[in-house]
Amino acid sequence: MPILVTGGAGFIGSHTCVELLNSNYEIIILDNFSNSNIESLNRLKELTGKNFEVYDVDLLDKENVDNIFKENHIEAVIHFAGLKAVGESVEKPNYYYQNNVTGTLVLTEMMQKYNVYNLVFSSSATVYGIPKAVPISEDFPLIATNPYGRTKLMIEKILRDLNVSNKDWSIASLRYFNPIGAHESGLIGEDPKGIPNNLMPYITQVATGKLPELSVFGNDYSTPDGTGVRDYIHVVDLAKGHIKALEKVLSTNGVESYNLGTGQGYSVLELVDAFEKASGQKIPYKIAPRRPGDIAECYADPSKAERELDWKSEKSLEEMCLDSWRWQERNPDGYLSKTVEIK
Ligand code: NAD
Ligand code: UFG
Repeated sequence: MPILVTGGAGFIGSHTCVELLNSNYEIIILDNFSNSNIESLNRLKELTGKNFEVYDVDLLDKENVDNIFKENHIEAVIHFAGLKAVGESVEKPNYYYQNNVTGTLVLTEMMQKYNVYNLVFSSSATVYGIPKAVPISEDFPLIATNPYGRTKLMIEKILRDLNVSNKDWSIASLRYFNPIGAHESGLIGEDPKGIPNNLMPYITQVATGKLPELSVFGNDYSTPDGTGVRDYIHVVDLAKGHIKALEKVLSTNGVESYNLGTGQGYSVLELVDAFEKASGQKIPYKIAPRRPGDIAECYADPSKAERELDWKSEKSLEEMCLDSWRWQERNPDGYLSKTVEIK
């Protein structure tokens, strides 16, 4: 029975599909390509040598989502589809609540209709808001500080309510910290539209000369070098966490949240330094004012995932930098790049 992957053409979804296919799961991908390119799925086929069904469908399109469930005996859903830009969510809250919250309601309604109760959901460390301390464990207070974060928090609460209403539901909400890196093949990776919001894709575009220099947002935080500290995690490690979470939801009932992070924080300047060493590229930067809404430090206590999912991250910061760089160097225009050279 296949696993339905919503948002499977995106950054984390595509890497998770590689792991699913390599673990011999049959998959079906639903994506509206609002923030991705179909080329990622061609690369996925090339990389794994496997085929799969793709539905170019919007989650808000109830009739077509219904058809996907009607046509396939789906065993479980991994739900990545969502909008994720914090700044944009402040400007367009309606769009974010519609897409993320209503999209999830449509999905779970169809899951109930077709008796599919196994779900792995993409949540975010953003649900911890400004954490009272670090490392952050799952029992910390949940207070999102922007519309994007509130969509994640609302969805987590909705999923808990579903489980209260029907104990057949088996759900894992995975709270990602900061995913970076790319598949080591250099075939798939993060392909942000326009100027990147996030640090690593910004750095890699400075490295290729596409952007002139990095702005480091603040060097007066109470961190060792004054710049923001985050828990960067290799996207392939994150993808493997989804396989473990899937195994868990397929074998138990209930609803649980898990931090997926490394447990190790690195500052902006430490990441720049690691990237320079791994890539051999110089990253010019200037110190700029703090970015509104940013917090000083955020890193996970990932011990619950290790205990209950038998998962922990394995890849080093150096591997994250090397793989991010390989992807960017070989695909300077992301999935619009024509040629991909494989070693
Ligand atoms: P992404 O934008 O690369 O992937 C999301 C995919 O969902 C895209 O392919 C997009 O086209 C699709 N999509 C969006 N709305 C849709 C809809 N209504 N119908 C069908 N498809 C739709 O993002 P990503 O980085 O791979 O993130 C995946 C998930 O993880 C998101 O839910 C995101 O909020 C969450 N997350 C990401 C990060 C991060 O830093 N990347 C951190 C924490 C949580
Ligand atoms: N930063 C810079 N310059 C940049 C971009 C970022 O100095 O050009 C700094 C930020 O100030 C922060 C660090 O780099 O200190 C990381 O910033 P990112 O934008 O890469 O990541 P965030 O931690 O701000 O947010 C990310 C996702 C959110 C998610 C959160 C927690 O973008 O959606 O991780 O998972 F909610």
